[in-house]
Amino acid sequence: MDCLNEVTLDHGWTLLEYDQVDSTNRMLVELAKVGASEGTCLSTQHQTNGRGRLGRTWTDLPGSSILFSILVRPSFSIENYFAVPCALSVALVETLVDLGLNARIKWPNDLLIGSAKLAGMLSEIGDKPDDRFFVIGLGINVNQSEDELIELGRPATSIRANLGYWVGHDKAHDILLKLIARFQQFYLELQASIESSMALFLERYKSYCSTINQFVSVELNDNEAVRGIATDITGMGHLVVNTENGIRTFAAGEVYHLYGY
Ligand code: BTN
Repeated sequence: MDCLNEVTLDHGWTLLEYDQVDSTNRMLVELAKVGASEGTCLSTQHQTNGRGRLGRTWTDLPGSSILFSILVRPSFSIENYFAVPCALSVALVETLVDLGLNARIKWPNDLLIGSAKLAGMLSEIGDKPDDRFFVIGLGINVNQSEDELIELGRPATSIRANLGYWVGHDKAHDILLKLIARFQQFYLELQASIESSMALFLERYKSYCSTINQFVSVELNDNEAVRGIATDITGMGHLVVNTENGIRTFAAGEVYHLYGY
């Protein structure tokens, strides 16, 4: 598990590249706890124990995905941390649009093309008052074939499936560097002026979010799901759903778009 390469990025940020790790999120959380600096990014070709949302696992075939995590130490209050994955989602949509891909966000932070998932995001927080940090991990399907995607057992897609060609290592690396650079610019704007930048990113996030105006099911736990029309995202990043029992707002949960995408 030796670091293969260390890439120096703008503003003192660093990308540590590995061949194989258990989970980039787990490793970066551990590094954060022993003082790793803001802007430490960690990527790998393969994870043996990738973490997904809601306690799930995130599996990959070696070399098939962009798998990376990024550490930030926001100076703004913890209630506004949701703006960080929101900014990363916006950065990812815009990076993919530059590749010719029409990506959309499914609330809170799944990236879809059509109704199929291209990427997932997992945020982990360190909330000791004297050592706050935020690690955001992103798994992007890059080179999975149609057959491999079907095997995942849920609607999924990859960059290759959309562009129609294998994405080489250098190109995948270039996509990652462009994504980090874009996110860095957004994040520095958030750090400079959280209130105004957050409002701007939220508007951009909403313009890319395909959940709004969908008939959705929000699964809260194994026994409870709420259905209705998703109408908005609040200033705190929560989902607003118009249900038959009135308006409800959700801070978390798994959302299914019941019709369309
Ligand atoms: C989801 O369930 O949709 C979120 C998946 C997040 C996966 C990424 S891959 C890189 C990073 N390291 C992990 O262990 N998980 C995240």
